Parts: sequence; C-alpha cells; structure tokens
Amino acid sequence: MCGIVGYVGSREAVPVLMNGLKHLEYRGYDSAGIACLNGNRNFFIRKEKGKLSVLQNVLKSIPITSHIGIGHTRWATHGEPSQINAHPHLSHHGDIVVVHNGIIENYSELRQELKRHGYRFHSDTDTEVAAHLIEACYKGDLAQAIQKAVKRIRGFFAFVVMARKEPDRIVAVKRSNPLLVGVGKSENFIASDVSALLPYTDRVIYIDDDELVQIKAGEPPSIFDLKTGRVKKKPVSKIPWNIEQANKGGYPHFMLKEIFEQPEVISRTLKACVNLKKEINFEGLNGRAKTRLKKTRKIFFVSCGTAYHAGLCGRRMVEEYARIPTDAQVSSEFRYGDPVLSSEDVVIFISQSGETADTLAALREAKRKKAFTISIVNVVGSSIARESDAVIYTYAGPEIGVASTKAYVAQLLTLALFSFYLGRLRQQLSGLEVKQLVLEAWHIRAGIDAILDGTKSIKAVAKKLYRKNSFLYLGRGYNFPTALEGALKLKEITYAHAHGYAAGEMKHGPIALIDSSQPVVCLVPESKTYDKMLSNMEEIKARKGIIISIATKGDRLVRKMSQYVFPVPKCREIYSSILTVIPLQLFAYYAAVFNGRDVDQPRNLAKSVTVE
Ligand code: G6P
Repeated sequence: MCGIVGYVGSREAVPVLMNGLKHLEYRGYDSAGIACLNGNRNFFIRKEKGKLSVLQNVLKSIPITSHIGIGHTRWATHGEPSQINAHPHLSHHGDIVVVHNGIIENYSELRQELKRHGYRFHSDTDTEVAAHLIEACYKGDLAQAIQKAVKRIRGFFAFVVMARKEPDRIVAVKRSNPLLVGVGKSENFIASDVSALLPYTDRVIYIDDDELVQIKAGEPPSIFDLKTGRVKKKPVSKIPWNIEQANKGGYPHFMLKEIFEQPEVISRTLKACVNLKKEINFEGLNGRAKTRLKKTRKIFFVSCGTAYHAGLCGRRMVEEYARIPTDAQVSSEFRYGDPVLSSEDVVIFISQSGETADTLAALREAKRKKAFTISIVNVVGSSIARESDAVIYTYAGPEIGVASTKAYVAQLLTLALFSFYLGRLRQQLSGLEVKQLVLEAWHIRAGIDAILDGTKSIKAVAKKLYRKNSFLYLGRGYNFPTALEGALKLKEITYAHAHGYAAGEMKHGPIALIDSSQPVVCLVPESKTYDKMLSNMEEIKARKGIIISIATKGDRLVRKMSQYVFPVPKCREIYSSILTVIPLQLFAYYAAVFNGRDVDQPRNLAKSVTVE
C-alpha cells in the first residue's frame, strides 16, 4: 500500500517522480505528493487530495527545476485522505522531508513526547512523527539521524528521506515494507516496487529489513546495516519485465488488457515449467525442497484475497493428484491461529505481489515453527519470495489492475502442475499419466481464446444485469473457489453485494434470498458433481431466480434451465476452474464499466496490502 519513489541524477526530477507515481498509483490513490530540492536548498513540496491527475494538473502551471526529489501516492491508514495528510511530510523546522509506507505503532507516544519538546503537528498521520523525530536526531548527517530515529520507532515502515542541508542525497530505510533501488548510469532511483523503475532501468538492488540505503547521482548506492552501521555489499539483479508489459497497450483499462493476456500466460507458464519430454520441473525447487516435499506429512496453502481462492483450488488439486492431506487458510487467520506445525510440514504461500503483510507475517510464523516454506509468487525478488526456503515464480508478468485476473490464472495452472509434480514425486502418478495431463494443459490456451471470442455476448448480459445490487455465485468442487472468485471480482469493481457459496450449502441459508429478482450465477461445467449442480439449479428455478450459468459448450440441459449461459470448452475437471473464471472476470468488468466505476482503481482497495 502507498507507492514511494525517489530520484537523484541529471534529469528533471519532477517528470521522473510523476511518471514513477503513475506506475505506482495502483498501490494507493487517495492523495499524492512530491518534494524536490532546488539549488538554493529550499524544499518545493506539493501535495493534493485525490488521484494523481489532480497533482499533475497543479504542477503543470509551476515550473520547477530540480534534480533530486521524492514522491508518494497514498492509501490512508492514519488520518483521512486530505491535502494535509498527504505525503511528503515536512519536519518542524523545515529541514527534513519524509515519505512513508507502513505504520508506526508507537506514534501516539512519540507524538506526545515530541509535542512536549515544542514540535507542532499539522496532520493526523503517523508519518509526521517520523519527520520530526529524524529532525530531532539530526546533527548534520542524515543517515545517522535516521539510524538513531528508527531505534525509537516500533512498527513496519519504508521511509524515504531528504535533508535540506544535504541536497545531494536521498536516504531510505525499511522494516517489512518493500523498497528497492534502481541503478542507472550516473543516476539512481528508489521505489516501493519495480513498476516505477521500469521506464528507466532494469537493474535493481533489493533492500532487506533493517538496511539503510543512501543514493547520490554518479555514485553506486551505499547500503548499511542499520544496527551495526557497517557497509553491506549487495548484488544488482535484473528485472525480467519490460515497460510495454506495464502499459495499457491500447486497452481502455489494465484489467481488460490483463484478461486478454491470459492465453499468453498459459503458454508462458507451460514453457517455463514443462520440458520437451513433457516432464514438469520447477527451477526454484532445489534438492532440499524435493526431499521435504517427498516426506511431508501435511501441506498448507496460505494466502489472501484472490490468492486464497487459488489456495483453495490448490488444496483440492494436491489432495486429488498427490494424495497428501492439505489445508488452505487465509494468512491473517493462519498467523494468529497458533498453527500446529513442525519440521515435517510444508507451508506454501501464494501471492501475486509477494509483499502482502499478513502473508509475509504468516511466512515468518511458519519458519519460526520450523516448517519448510515455499512461495508461489509473481513479483521476482519480492519479500515473500526472498524469505521463503524455496520459490516457484508464476509467469503472469506485471499485473496493474487492482482486481487480479491473469495472476490468478497463472497461480491455478502453476498449482495444477505442482500437484502433478508432487504426485509423481510421491509415486501417485506415472510418467505417462503426467505426460497426458500436461498434453491436455496445452489446450487451455485455445479454450481461453474461445471464451474471449464470446466477449460480446458476456458484455450484453452485463448490460442487462448491471443495475442489480445483489448476486449469488454457486459452485462445487474445483468450481467452489471460482464461485468465491467470481463474487469477489464483482464486488471489488462494481460495489454490488456478491456472495460466493458452495452450492451444497445453498439450502442452509442462501436459498432464502432467491426470488424472481435475484440473479444466481451457477458454475456447472461437466464434473463429478454436475448432477448435484443441476438439482441446485432446479431449486433456484422453482423459486424463479435469474440463472446465469457457466456450462460446457453444447450443454442443452443447462441452456434450458438458464436465462443466460456463458459456454466454456470441455476439459478435464482440474482445468475447469481456469476456464470458468474467465467469463466471470469479463462479466464483472463490463458490469463495472456500465455502472461507471473506476475499474482499475476501485474505491478503498489497493493492489498490494502491505499493512495489516
Ligand atoms: C489485495 C488485492 C487482491 C489480492 C490480495 C492478495 O486485496 O487487491 O487482488 O488478491 O491483495 O495479494 P497478493 O499480492 O498477496 O496476491
């Protein structure tokens, strides 16, 4: 949450900062601001409530020449969205300016203490505390002042700071919240995630917890251990993404572009994980990981939001194909639930961003309890990827739309392949069986293409139903998580109430909602529980509910029972959830568009939830 960017070099800083913030806006968008230093050692600070475009318009009329600055796009935690609460925050005497991502837990205590020493506060934020505290510790060396101030701070943070008296540098520090340095030629950048850096450099240094970094123009970044003050040597990594992937490419929204990228995601994933002999191999699973997976007593999938729905599918996949007892939990419940774990267990963390605070904390809890940890992550070099014992990357490419689409599909296919891999490792599947399964996986791409070809009719149904404000989604087996995911997509971007349920539970409550005005989305592709789903649909029909079905192409029975049908190609059950979710993504997308919603930046949400 919150996007941070910093620049020092020979370019004009303002356009660099604004471009960086544009790529970070998906992390938070209730206000934005920048601070730059000019030749006279004066801070220029401008911040505005609302989207980045508001700030952009204000800046158009103000010519600023500066080669060093920091910027921020906010997702409010302490203090409502307002101009005053927007970052950057200036210290009491105007010597220090700070942008921050995270939460200072002891801010109220520090605020009282600083007030007693005469510091005046203008905002309701915890960040202003940091600005004043760093200033109070400042004796002419910014790095030292930050080092001292951070000792007093409890919580999670990434701070990026400038001092008026040291106009050649930006100093940053982090604990838990993401931060990385972009290394350029005679210029350096700092950001909360790679998308802000992609237009300028693909060379990055990932900053770890309790490290302090100082960047200047024309010098390699220097990194210090926060506790000892010792210099640390860190490798420069290459980002495997390019700037085109992070642009809209002619689509009206990132979400639509990302939905249409899904066939490509399928191919990329298969190419990366399957060799020419049709054997499955994960680069990140080393010998140790294999040994632990061979022996494990239980597997846990732990994740949040859409990634949790992938975990629910993963659980079923691993139980079906590898016959290992498996559980799937949301990270926030897992981390505080005192999970029963030992060195015989494997815990798998699924995350698009690799930065979700609860998932990261759950990972640390699992490690503390000696479980073997694996992550399935999309963002290379992210905190969850770096802290887990082994990592399997997904090949979705950068996902910008707040409502996750292609990352989910990448997670599902990766999990299916992982379950076959595990089945082979545990001798539940023969080599031949794996080959057959993999062969069928190659047809998913064409299946998604066929669904996308039917976009027009999905759009037409969305046009008919977009004014409804309550939806029920029902599914069984592999498609119970799809029901949850379909409902989540709809509520995230249309703000309609949508509820996903296991269809077998319908009689235990949701059936009370059904009348002639209630739309019910039924996931009914061919499956072991097809007949059971038909019975559910009969019950809905008897109560005059509006049935929208996702069914196998050519299924006449379902067509007869439904007002609307979104057909999906026939496939093996394990792959069906990869196909059935696509029409639901498109339905949610068009319903949001017809409602005039901001699809890529829905209210109150953020792409990456880096606070608890
Ligand atoms: C937020 C996003 C969701 C995402 C969830 C988990 O809620 O809006 O799209 O599924 O976080 O994020 P992660 O990056 O861990 O997959």
